[in-house]
Formats: sequence, structure tokens, C-alpha cells
Amino acid sequence: MKKALYSFICILFLTACQTNEKKYCIGVSQCSEDIWRDWQNAELKIEANFHEGVELRFASALDDSRRQIQQIDSLVESGIDLLIVAPNQLQSVSPAIDRAYDRGIPVIVFERKTDSQKFTAFVSADNYEMGRQMGKYIAKRIGGEGKVMEIMGLKGSSPADDRHNGFIKALQEYPQIEVVITLQGDWTEEMAYKAVKEYKGEIAGLDAVFGHNDRTAIGARRAFIERGVPLPLFYGIDGLPDEDGGIRQVRDSLLDATYIYPTRGDLLLQTALDILDGKPFKKELMLTSALVNSDNANVLLLESDEVLRQSHKLDMLQQKASGYLQQLDTQRAITVLACGVIALLLLVILLFYLYHRSKVNIRRERVVNNLWNMDLGNTESTEKKENTEENTDTENTDTSEEPLAETSQSLFVARFKEVVEARLSDSEVTVDDLAASMNISRVQLYRRVKSVTGCSPVEMLRTARLNRAHQMLLTTDKTISEVAYDVGFSAPSYFTKCFKDEFGFLPGEARKSV
Ligand code: FRU
Repeated sequence: MKKALYSFICILFLTACQTNEKKYCIGVSQCSEDIWRDWQNAELKIEANFHEGVELRFASALDDSRRQIQQIDSLVESGIDLLIVAPNQLQSVSPAIDRAYDRGIPVIVFERKTDSQKFTAFVSADNYEMGRQMGKYIAKRIGGEGKVMEIMGLKGSSPADDRHNGFIKALQEYPQIEVVITLQGDWTEEMAYKAVKEYKGEIAGLDAVFGHNDRTAIGARRAFIERGVPLPLFYGIDGLPDEDGGIRQVRDSLLDATYIYPTRGDLLLQTALDILDGKPFKKELMLTSALVNSDNANVLLLESDEVLRQSHKLDMLQQKASGYLQQLDTQRAITVLACGVIALLLLVILLFYLYHRSKVNIRRERVVNNLWNMDLGNTESTEKKENTEENTDTENTDTSEEPLAETSQSLFVARFKEVVEARLSDSEVTVDDLAASMNISRVQLYRRVKSVTGCSPVEMLRTARLNRAHQMLLTTDKTISEVAYDVGFSAPSYFTKCFKDEFGFLPGEARKSV
């Protein structure tokens, strides 16, 4: 019974400890924080929700390469299984990426390059091609001649270099187009605004401004408006479909055109999982892209609104599903708790049972040891001995009190045993009778027996009867009823009960074991 209970409790605790184990932890090191990054992070999260046990850890370096190095190192230290990283700049972040890679962590570099070869996969759109396409488009829009301003992305970040090179390459075909100035916009609206505001050269006659992203184009536009000059055409890259995104800015004629720079967080996460699951993946994944102008901006917005509506529905569905999952979790917790309580109750019952058994045994042992198994020496002529003892007591006045007390105790017990055994078979005998036989009062008898044996005279009498009965069952052929009557029980059924309480087995079983 004990074994079964222990196994049950073990199984219960194992079940309780079983949790939905996390499978993969993926670190995402973003170089910046802006709507493009927000959009991508949201896509990563949505995609992660479709896969069991994927945890994403995000860090944003806020356009600071030193900060990104620290963040990558601490992501690695935190025990990520894979790193997705958009390096702020081509060279400066590479040592941290290399460290992660050297520790055996797969690395997906996306959208911005590293100058090292230590990465598992590279996912990006073609920034050179985007710059080239924008150059060609701008040249066409301004009729193949005119003055152009360029607002660069952050120095040292690969998309800025690639977009610039592609742009210049395209304009080489148009010798009558002059790039009047290339200002530094560092990917932010504020930097572009400031750069144009503070630019000392002439901007009044410009035909086009190419910002390396939509935000820098919009920042430059703000500065042009403030400087009160005629507005040229503005171009950017990113083409996000949301409220402040490039597609709406094209539709609203703030920008003449933009180029979609795909975020594709979903694809990034799928690539990450393919790598982690050991499935085939592309080492270099080039994302396709497209130009957005007033011809297609509306259609794209309609489509993206529809997609947004659907993903909103999906979101709600997912929320519902996770609500159900939570309910399931709660129910599971309640079941485990209930099983725990039941197991605890069973344990308490078992412990109580064991305690009770041991108490009975201890009591029995104590009684037996204290009295019937006591080495009393020669118990005959107790009176005589008692007298002798009394004499010795008075003669040897310098002996200690303890042995004397012990001796007188032994004598008392021996006498009590004699008296009890003499009246054992008498079912009518009372404590008063026993006390009278010992020439002491009932109260005195109770006190002395209790102090020596820890039991009352009645208990002692019952134990003596049961011991005798046990012996008779082993040594005679008498029936259980005969034995019961012989040892002073007036009802055999009561005898059986007391016997079971005392020895833990039935009288019949005592005989069987012989
Ligand atoms: C977002 C962003 C985009 C730009 C890209 C270049 O952080 O600045 O606007 O196209 O990064 O890496």
C-alpha cells in the first residue's frame, strides 16, 4: 500500500512539473527604432505565434553601434539559440556578430550587411538596385535634365552606400542631371530636416530630392516648406502601407514616388526556424520589391487595408484561442491541485494509520516490558523480601536512595503481578479487589501502577489477560471462546476486538502462525 501511494505521489508531482517547454529563444538585434522596425517586429511576433514554443528577445540600438555591440553580447549571454541582426554599420558591429557566430549561434544578418563572412544567412532586398531604379525613375520624371539633391542614410551603413551607388550609376546615363549636393540624413526625419535647413547653398531651383528613405524625404520637404522656396519632387524608399507610411504619402502627393523596402518579419522567422530545425534554407535570400507612384498607390492601399482587416480578424481569433488555452491551463492547474490535495489526504491517512499502529505496539511493548517481562528475580515470599528490604533500608543508612526506590518498585510490581495473575480468570474482578489484595487503597494502587508502568491497573490487567490468552492459543487446543472465558473475558467478541487492538492480528491468526 505504501509503495503504491509513493508512486502515485511521484507521478502526480511529475505531472505538475510538466510545463509547455520553450523550444527556441531567438534574439532580434535591431539597429534603430522607427515605424519600419516596428512593422517588422510586429510581423516577427505574429509569425512566432504560429509556432509552438518560440520566444523572441528584442533589443534596439537606437542607431548607436556601440550600444548594439553590447546588446548583441548580452543577448548571447542570455542563452539565445539564434541571432537575427540588422547591423547599424557595416564594420563596427561585426566583432560582436563574429563572437556570437563563433559561440556556435546561427546568425541571420538582414537588410544591412556586415563586413565579415561569419553569418549563417543573409536576408535583404537589393539596395543597389533600389537606388538605381529610383535614379532612373527620377531622371524620367524630370525629363532627363535638372538639379537633384540626395539625402543619404547613416554613413557606414550598407543600404546607404548601396542606394547611393545605384542612384549615381543610374544618373550617369543622364549627363544633364546634376546632383547638386548630397546631405547626411542618417535615416531620420529630424536629421534630414536639420541638414536641409542648415544647408547654405541654393535650393530654390532644384527639381528633385531623393531621400534614402521616406522619413528623410519628408524631413527635407518640411525644411523646403519652411525655407519658402518652390517645392521640388520628393522621393523616398520604404513604402510602408500604414498611416505615416510612404504609400499614403504618395497617394497624398507629399512624395512623388517611393520604393517598397520589404520588412518580411514572417520570412525572417521562418528562415530562423528552418535553420534551427536543420531544414534546408537559402544562404542568401533576396526579397523582391516594387516602385510605388500615383498610378498604383491607391490600389496598394486598398489591398493593404484588406490585408490589415484580415490580420486584425486573425488577431482576434488568436486572442480567442489563447483565451481558451488559458482556460485549459487553469483547468489543468485545478486538476493538479485537486490531485495534490487527494494525495496529501491519503498521505495523512497513511501516516495516521502508521502512527496509530506504532502507538499500539509501543504501548504494548511498554506494558509487557514494564511488568510481565521485568526481571523481578525471585518473586516468591514477596512480603518476606519486602521486610528484609525494609530492614536493609534502616541498616544501610548511607546507601543512596535510588537503588532503594528501585528495589521497592520491583517488589511492588512483583506483588502486583502475583495479585493480577491470581485473579486473571475472574471476569468479575475490579480494581478495588486488586487494591484490597495488596492492602492499599484504590487510588494508591492507581498512582503507583501508573508511575511504574505508564498504564492504569485496568490496562495492566487487560494486557496480562491478553498475554495469557496469546500463550494459551499457542500452547493449547482450547477454542477461542474457551480461551476468552479462561482469561476473564465475559464476551468472546469483545475479547477478539481487544486481542486485535493489542497484537494487530486476530486470535485465530495467532494460532495459524504456529
Ligand atoms: C529603418 C530604416 C529604413 C531604411 C532602412 C535602411 O530603420 O531606416 O527606413 O530603409 O532602415 O537600413
